[in-house]
Amino acid sequence: MAVLPIVEIPDPRLRLVSKPVETVDDGTRALVADMTDTMYDAKGIGLAAIQVGVESRVLVIDLQEQEGEDGRPIRDPHAYINPELLEVSEELASYNEGCLSIPEQYADVERPARARVRWLDERGDAHDEWLEGLLATCMQHEIDHLNGVLFVDHISRLKRDMVLKKLAKLRRAT
Ligand code: NI
Repeated sequence: MAVLPIVEIPDPRLRLVSKPVETVDDGTRALVADMTDTMYDAKGIGLAAIQVGVESRVLVIDLQEQEGEDGRPIRDPHAYINPELLEVSEELASYNEGCLSIPEQYADVERPARARVRWLDERGDAHDEWLEGLLATCMQHEIDHLNGVLFVDHISRLKRDMVLKKLAKLRRAT
């Protein structure tokens, strides 16, 4: 297991359409383990493989919404392999999204409130479920990564320019 470097904008790899996993094997599970370590190290709630430079349709998500007795989030990581958005609700939900590839920048993004998603887990078992709440939002954000789409693509040009300017300023300062 290892913490991997995270790919940040404007790296062109973030615009690639990632390739489906043909067989869920030990290589896939090793990737999932490294991605999970990387997500926790970066204090994220989701990560797509392309964000560590791997062009593969693999996501890890852990919303870490509950805290243990020691005040630290309870870890419950999940892997989503070849996830597909099958249906979405008409109802929308807005969430202040961020992205480990666009560090420390946030913007309100509207997306369907519920999404039906099909995926394989790290054992290769198939799932097909309606997701809601933050998991629905996070899943749609991460599936976007597999298609070369970033959350800033969902906001107005004006807001996008503001985010990119603030990021440039942050990078000059560090
Ligand atoms: Ni992201």
